[in-house]
Amino acid sequence: DPTLLLTIAGMVQFNQYFLGQNVSVTTRATTVQQCFRTVDLDEVGRTTRHLTFFEMLGNFSFGDYFKAEVIPWAWELVTTGLGLEPDRLFATVFLTDDDAARMWADSTGVAKDHILRRDGKDNFWSMGVAGPCGPCSELLYDRGEAFGATWDGAGKLDDERYLEIWNLVFMQHTQDDEGNIVGDLPRPSVDTGAGLERIAAILQGVRTAFETDTLAPVLKAAEAVTGASYGHDATSDMSLRVLADHPRSMATLIADGVIPSNEGRGYVLRRLIRRAVRHARLLGVDRALLTDLTGVVVDLFGPVYPEVARNAELITRIVAG
Ligand code: SER
Repeated sequence: DPTLLLTIAGMVQFNQYFLGQNVSVTTRATTVQQCFRTVDLDEVGRTTRHLTFFEMLGNFSFGDYFKAEVIPWAWELVTTGLGLEPDRLFATVFLTDDDAARMWADSTGVAKDHILRRDGKDNFWSMGVAGPCGPCSELLYDRGEAFGATWDGAGKLDDERYLEIWNLVFMQHTQDDEGNIVGDLPRPSVDTGAGLERIAAILQGVRTAFETDTLAPVLKAAEAVTGASYGHDATSDMSLRVLADHPRSMATLIADGVIPSNEGRGYVLRRLIRRAVRHARLLGVDRALLTDLTGVVVDLFGPVYPEVARNAELITRIVAG
């Protein structure tokens, strides 16, 4: 997609099918997609929820199934498939989306008072630039009292406690760069996205993405190379989270052909490297340590993503600067 620097969502490569510009060989797809978001760069490390690189699980319909099918399927997957307790789940719907509200109520086991209407900020999805868009339903999982305030039945839900685990977008419209709806898609479609790291945290019974098996080895390596220990001090924890997050992004960006530069994708990579070095210094480490961390990423991702294994040497060379 020439309008984007990086793959910000699992649906990016499918825009052409949603918009009817091209015909897909299939009307249904399921993916695990490497995603990268920079909007949150300064948040990464500060919170335990934000990541630059993440893996998004998704299922897609290009004019095939729509709301009536995907809502009960999503429910079946999270309850029967993943084994999440139905009572802990909430489903949000766009303010005016009566169809989705009715379908959650009639074709799933979600508690009626756990179906919440929300405005366009939360429940209308678009890429932020011209392209397909539509109302969405988010599935939230209540992680319990230890994570935040109990919902009072009317106000806002605490984001850490009621964690968004899956977004189901009912792609119906097209919007322009300013966010105005300018048309309808040729056929209603579906784009869903679930963050692998968030689901892994719940299933593995750990508090944050940084403690899951996809990130903990990088965090441990960051502790080992800096001598700092995680979970004792808010300031050093932030730096350790930056050092756990950024090397995954560096390794996967370089494996996809990005090299540091002063513009575009290359500038994003350069900022990541600089930010990681800065946080290593804040932890009192002046020596080059990023290659140790990208090495751990190569070991973790190489068996799954062949381009990461193939480019191991290049990753080390570029990160070593
Ligand atoms: N495009 C939606 C999102 O990124 C669902 O995949 O949340």
